Amino acid sequence: MEMSPPTAEWWRQAVVYQIYPRSFADSDGDGVGDLGGIISRVTYLTSLGIDAVWLSPFYPSALTDGGYDVDDYRDVDPQLGTLTDFDEMTAGLHGCGIKVIIDIVPNHTSNRHAWFREALAAPKGSPARDRYIFRDGRGPDGAQPPSDWPSMFGGPAWTRVQDGQWYLHLFAAEQPDLNWANREVRDDFLATLRFWSDRGVDGFRVDVAHGLAKDLTEPFEPLPAEPNPGDQPVPHGAHPLWDRDEVHDIYAEWRQVFNQYDPPRAGVAEAWVHPSRRGRYASPAGLGQAFNFDLLEANWRCGEYLRVITDDLADTQQHGASTTWVLSNHDVVRHATRYALPAQDDLSSIGAASAWLLSGGVSPEPDCGLGTRRARAATLLMLALPGSAYLYQGEELGLHEVADIPGDRREDPVFWRSGGAEKGRDGCRVPLPWTADGPSFGFGAGAAHLPQPAWFGPLSVQAQEHDSASTLALYRQALSWRRKLRAAENLEWMPGTNGQVLHFSRSGGWQCVTNFGSRAVPLPRGTVVLASSPLLEGLLPADTTAWIIPPAPDRVAQHLTASALQ
Ligand code: GLC
Repeated sequence: MEMSPPTAEWWRQAVVYQIYPRSFADSDGDGVGDLGGIISRVTYLTSLGIDAVWLSPFYPSALTDGGYDVDDYRDVDPQLGTLTDFDEMTAGLHGCGIKVIIDIVPNHTSNRHAWFREALAAPKGSPARDRYIFRDGRGPDGAQPPSDWPSMFGGPAWTRVQDGQWYLHLFAAEQPDLNWANREVRDDFLATLRFWSDRGVDGFRVDVAHGLAKDLTEPFEPLPAEPNPGDQPVPHGAHPLWDRDEVHDIYAEWRQVFNQYDPPRAGVAEAWVHPSRRGRYASPAGLGQAFNFDLLEANWRCGEYLRVITDDLADTQQHGASTTWVLSNHDVVRHATRYALPAQDDLSSIGAASAWLLSGGVSPEPDCGLGTRRARAATLLMLALPGSAYLYQGEELGLHEVADIPGDRREDPVFWRSGGAEKGRDGCRVPLPWTADGPSFGFGAGAAHLPQPAWFGPLSVQAQEHDSASTLALYRQALSWRRKLRAAENLEWMPGTNGQVLHFSRSGGWQCVTNFGSRAVPLPRGTVVLASSPLLEGLLPADTTAWIIPPAPDRVAQHLTASALQ
């Protein structure tokens, strides 16, 4: 069996659990999750068997965009705790062998950030305004925005200020974009990276990593179509706002800071770019890793999974990075729900789920049982792949999307800026159920900030804790086996792979087989150590994944079995 990777590259095959702090656990009963809540759940996190947590923003924020509107990058929101709590949390997690990755949001600050307040008070052309992107408007009186660029959250990407100038915000108006051509902006972020690295943070998830470098040459051109993985709407690097080559100069500077620490701090880019461009973000001279959202977009179809896995592993190998697999996060409809909906040929699973959300979650009617079954199979498949895996809080409970949040309780700016035409992302951010009943299902002592449905009770941690067939048990067993089997970053397709079955092996003979079809299929030879659904008379049923170790007297297998059982 291969040795584990050197400590410096602990992240290469790590399982990282994403915590959305305001919805994880609430220690003081105000309805909002906090650092005290995380501290109180360190034992739970340890029991999962994860290698690291990634915390979505916990910084002071008015919560216009769930905390991705940051007032101060070097503090904790008072509602969530203090820097002392942060240190306690980090020490508690480290004490249990869990690394800490935090979210850094460099594309924009909040409009309450000291810099933006200063910019508003300062005159046109001042150094304070140059930290952001202020421009005069078009038309004789400058009353039209400098360009027709739309915000990602709906509505225009420019907002006018009192003296008539406009500022750019690719997201909400409360999230003014920073000017990364400004040296002071760059230096300040380097200081922020040092601030948290000095506190023992192990890595950074970089929000909107592909958006920092912009071509702001005037006159501004209308934007070409938004780049989607798979599309090549403009030559790479030529879009005025996204994925420009110059952005990597910024990450080269960040890398220098990361490498001043031992082990070097890790980075993972949130970069929605063409797969062929991902490697630049993930290069050792850059952030080291970049999210690969291809599985998250895929439909539950054998051919799509096969293509994504094959292409992404080939791409990763070319760049010397390790890939990152993701099925759910705080921005998309949960995968248990996506897979409860019929696949549509012209849409990714995300696209189909967004259309379903728009219907209020009723059309088409989701088959939740099927969704859960497929989600469990997908997760077991993902956890068998080489590279790191990012899990999103609640998926280990098999949570589905909450589609029926009343409009007046919604928080996401996507909902508010679209006048309700888009439902937004609140449905995957509903606070976790820890107990089967009680106020907010054990999330806290009071009502939770987003309403929880009654069906959360049977999916709570308490309800699943002692059920060996539960999704929680499946995740724990899978992570425990993954750790024991600890394979090198290889994957070999097995002859059993066809239009309905994916079958591959990892080093040491560990095999993973998934049946995407509708009929049970024979299992490969060996011992099934884990299956996402019960086997059917020795066959692998539909929508099921199994992990298998080869039969004795295979010498490798003997060695594997012996070390796995230690
Ligand atoms: C990223 C975050 C998302 C946020 C956006 C703007 O995509 O994942 O939640 O709204 O950036 O910061």
